Parts: sequence; structure tokens; C-alpha cells
Amino acid sequence: LFCFDAESIHDFIVDAGKFAQKITPFNYAAKKIFRFDDERLHSKVFNIGFDNPVGLAAGFDKNAELVDLFYGLGFGFIEVGTLSAKPSKGADTPRIFRRVKEEALINSMGLPNAGIDSVISRLSKKRPYPVGVNIAQSTNGCIYADEMIEDVAYSFSKAAPLADYIALNISCPNVRAGKSFENPYALDDLLAELKKRNEKVSLLVKLSPDLSLHGLEEIISVCAMHSVDGYVISNTKRIQHNNAQKGLSGLPLQKASTDMIKKVYQLTNGKIPIIGVGGVDSAASAYEKISAGASLVQVYTGLIYQGPMVAKQINNGLLELMEKDGYSNIAHAVGKQA
Ligand SMILES: Cc1cc2nc3c(=O)[nH]c(=O)nc-3n(C[C@H](O)[C@H](O)[C@H](O)COP(=O)(O)O)c2cc1C
Repeated sequence: LFCFDAESIHDFIVDAGKFAQKITPFNYAAKKIFRFDDERLHSKVFNIGFDNPVGLAAGFDKNAELVDLFYGLGFGFIEVGTLSAKPSKGADTPRIFRRVKEEALINSMGLPNAGIDSVISRLSKKRPYPVGVNIAQSTNGCIYADEMIEDVAYSFSKAAPLADYIALNISCPNVRAGKSFENPYALDDLLAELKKRNEKVSLLVKLSPDLSLHGLEEIISVCAMHSVDGYVISNTKRIQHNNAQKGLSGLPLQKASTDMIKKVYQLTNGKIPIIGVGGVDSAASAYEKISAGASLVQVYTGLIYQGPMVAKQINNGLLELMEKDGYSNIAHAVGKQA
């Protein structure tokens, strides 16, 4: 598949997956091959039950079209999106590039999505596993200043009643407007508005690995003021590629995101759950993030390079690593090396 353009293959997989997940025998066979259940991997995070700690990261199933398929592939939870109030075509193509030797991807997608309203019917299906919804402000260039807060709040109010958690994406590196809520004052205003909506859903904030220590501390303190329920650490790392700002994911991001997880775990005294993401491609890299303080992990680039068995392989390997360290449940390993 690596002979073809990365986004064309992605679109092909989405189309094939949409078709396949409607076929009952396929779903049954997929679950038999890819899923396995072990009580030692069960945990409760954000007051929600997770069958296993390995989730699909935001950006793969932007429009919530493949949720059931990915559950069949062994993932413990799925994060759909990023979704915004207004639909967006995103940036010009090509906008996904492989760096095969480094097991990395570079992307400048610019948050293309069908818009929250057109996805809502797919989210309203009741599912026996957690589905998070990742939201951000619309990126089609016609919204400024305070209107942006209303724009994000619109998606939040639409998604909140249907989501197990909401991840607020303030850290997309290839959307110019997307940087604004990394300003602590702007974030303060946004979180105040979202909290005013009185939704019962857990609200997480997705952070950039490029934050300075000072920037990180400021954001954590604003989030703490508004009782944010968790963090997703991290988004892609900002890099210059072909004269444009893009996002780097996969192995080169692994250490930076793990270090940041450790830092946030320390800053929050281990009291606020973290979803660890960035270069998770094996049980060892997942366990490293869990030991650094992540209660759950997510995979995107690892799925591209390791293939559809990745969730099962990670979960199997986690059991071995836990056994070696004498933990009877994955929750006991969280933050042990922080
Ligand atoms: C092609 C691509 C598209 C992405 N789109 C989104 C997105 O829409 N929203 C988001 O929050 N993160 C997005 N991400 C970031 C991932 O969710 C994840 O944070 C990042 O890739 C690090 O994980 P990984 O190393 O396992 O890929 C995207 C990543 C890639 C590679």
C-alpha cells in the first residue's frame, strides 16, 4: 500500500471499511481474530469503563464512519474528529507524507471534516464501549475572535450529550487559527463558556508537544481553574516541510510526548487522567507512557506501520509487562515511573 499516495490509501480504507462493517459475518470474524478480553486490562477512567487502554487517536476516523470497525479491530475506545461547527475541506493536497525509515508521518491536513451536524446521527447510536469526540474551531477562515468561542461551543453542545468524553483540540500545528486557544487568556475565555453550558460530559484538552515548560504550566493552571477532567498528550510536533508548517507523528514524537506526560502527571499530582499519544507502536512504548502517567494510550501512526493487529499486539504485550512487574490491573502501573 506504501506504493500509493498516503491520503488516497486512507480514503480507500475508509470506503472499504464502511462497506465491510455493515456485513455481519465480517464483524463477527474481525472480533474473533482481533479482539480479546482480559479483566486485568479493564479500568475506569473519567468514570467510564474501558475494556482495554488502547484507543484510536483523533484524525483517522474524522467523520465517525468507522467506529464499529475499529472496535472490531481490538481498540478499547475510539476518538472521532476533529469535528468543527462548519464543514471544512482542509488544506490543499498532497497533505500526508510518509517517512518510512523513521516510522513517521508528516501531515498538513488542516482539519478537513464534514461538520458536526452531519455526523451527529452516527454518534447517537448507543455503543457498549467509549467514543470520544474531538472538536476544534471551524477553519474555513471566516470566524474571528469571540465568534470562535461561540463556534467551538456550538460543537461542544451538540456533541456533549452523545460523547463519552470531549477532547478540545487547541494544538493542531497546521491550522493558523488553531493556535489561538493556546493563548492562556483565550483558553480561559473558551473554557469558561464551555463550563457555563453545564454539560455532564468529561472535558479533555489536547496539548501540543511544542509548548515550553512555562507555556505548559500556564495552560495547566488555566485548565485546573476550570476543572478540566483530563489531557490528551500530545498532538503532532510542528516542523517545517516544503516551506510550510506541518505536523510530525510516529516514532520521532515518542520521547517528547512521554516526557510531557511525565511533566503533566507531576504538575497535577497524578490526579487528572492523561491519554498518552505519540509514537505508540508496541506494548513497550504503550507501557512507557502508562508508567509515565497515562491512564490510557492512543495510536495513529503505529496503525499505519504495524497494521491492523496493532491493538491486539499491544494489549497482549501489556499483560506480559504487567505480570513481570507484579501488577494485577493496568491501573496499578499508571505513573509508576513518573
Ligand atoms: C494524518 C493525521 C491526521 C491527524 N488529524 C488529527 C485531527 O484531526 N485532530 C487531532 O486532534 N489530531 C490529529 N492527528 C494527531 C493524532 O491524533 C496524534 O495526536 C498524533 O499523530 C500522535 O500520535 P501518533 O504518533 O500515534 O500518530 C492527526 C495525525 C495524523 C498523522
